Amino acid sequence: MRPIRLLFAAGLAISAVAVGLASASATEQIVGGSRASIADHQYVVFLSTPDGFQFCGGTLVADNKVVTAAHCTIRKAPGDVRVVAGREDKTSAEGITSAVTDIWIHPDYTDVRVGSDVSVLTLDQRLPYTPLGLPDANDATLYAARTPATILGWGRTAVDGQSSQYLLKASVPLVADADCVNSYSDYDAKAMVCAGLPDGGIDTCQGDSGGPLVVNGRLAGLTSWGVGCAAPGNPGVYTRLGTYVDLVRSRL
Ligand code: ARG
Repeated sequence: MRPIRLLFAAGLAISAVAVGLASASATEQIVGGSRASIADHQYVVFLSTPDGFQFCGGTLVADNKVVTAAHCTIRKAPGDVRVVAGREDKTSAEGITSAVTDIWIHPDYTDVRVGSDVSVLTLDQRLPYTPLGLPDANDATLYAARTPATILGWGRTAVDGQSSQYLLKASVPLVADADCVNSYSDYDAKAMVCAGLPDGGIDTCQGDSGGPLVVNGRLAGLTSWGVGCAAPGNPGVYTRLGTYVDLVRSRL
């Protein structure tokens, strides 16, 4: 396994193609995160398979509704997904596990690089946790470049690494649309918003998808995609929830 990966990485380096596995530099430790307390962030949930494997994040926006990414729920039936709330340590039994009674996926969703990466889950019960507020539609101030945003999740702590046992959080500045399109030709400022530092080092990563990007105490974005994790010049790309918030509200 290891020699193959090294050869693969060398091949990528030679062809100078920046794709997911390309870099294993010192910038990719943790995605720059630190432990977050679930009591302080009761709205953060994770999605798991029925046998308990955590595969995405999500946000409680009403007592029985979770917003997540469409790429987390596409081609899944409600019975394939559990929502775990109130559990900071994935290996613990704390909190409440809910079944899902309905999965709504944005009708235009095809691929994360096209946009519309948003999905709403209806839970089989009402949870006693404090949900996070949705943004106002067309609230442009929410997406001003350099605004600090909080990212949260249980995803990988390095691009090739393992997912986190504990809830982690970090702060990353929002990136100007004009800068993000330089990083990604697929970037669409109506559907997405980028966040990260020019030199990388702090980012969401695989397994964090669907989880919250919080700006000014609102659910401004959903972890969606990127190239590698925390790499210089490749910020994280988040679903711009302000664009979809009316549609999301109609599902609550
Ligand atoms: N698509 C990933 C997931 O399903 C999230 C990737 C985020 N990548 C990034 N560099 N910010 O978990």
